Amino acid sequence: MPTIADELKRYVQQQVQMHGRVVYADAVDPASIIVADAEESALPDMVHPEAVHADVIGDSIRPVVNEEMMTATTLDAFHAQINTCMKCPLGGTRTNFVFGSGNPDADIMVIGEAPGADEDAQGLPFVGRAGQLLTKILESIELQRDDVYICNILKCRPPNNRKPLAGETDSCEPYLWKQIELIKPKFILALGLTAAHTLLKSSETMSALRGTIHDYQGIKTLVTYHPAALLRNPEWKKLVWEDVKFLRSLYLEVKSS
Ligand code: URA
Repeated sequence: MPTIADELKRYVQQQVQMHGRVVYADAVDPASIIVADAEESALPDMVHPEAVHADVIGDSIRPVVNEEMMTATTLDAFHAQINTCMKCPLGGTRTNFVFGSGNPDADIMVIGEAPGADEDAQGLPFVGRAGQLLTKILESIELQRDDVYICNILKCRPPNNRKPLAGETDSCEPYLWKQIELIKPKFILALGLTAAHTLLKSSETMSALRGTIHDYQGIKTLVTYHPAALLRNPEWKKLVWEDVKFLRSLYLEVKSS
């Protein structure tokens, strides 16, 4: 399994290729801040080289892309800044950029994989058949969609709903980091292995990931089956019910403390 250092190295190399410059820091030794430079000619106009920084949260390191757009202080402002994104080829094939929807102050963020055809058409996450099932799952623990914040790892639809490619995820993930930073949820519910593996940098199976509280940047994170998988395998609904009841109990504990 790649270490966080390997992941960071790969990430930084990719960002340098895409944007020219990025900074990252080692949480253990903040003095070891590294600035990776590239040819000036590789810098697109929108990049502001002076704005580079890295966030160090607890023991984790989170590089922040060197772009003015990452300075937004509200979700609406951030949405306005990034919804014309062309960082990966999916920008050229989307109908709508699917930023996310729900309560900007939500305690719970629900994160799926990528928009499908319905989401691409409407510009909203989880509005197709899987989305209707997600609404029911949330209602089963007395939550409305507007109580939580719903979004995806990718903001644009991959052709034929194929799995996101590594380059697409790498381009899009900083947007999710920024959404998480703005919303500051207490819990994340990762729907399906794409979301779980991307967030947790894990390659474990669903059985191994379910039923435990994972830590994502200090946020309690649970993993369950994607609602689209439940449409194909209704016998897994019972397991999802267990997972969301667990989430509900953790959420109520926090609410009452
Ligand atoms: N599947 C997802 O992962 N996200 C959506 O928004 C819709 C379907």
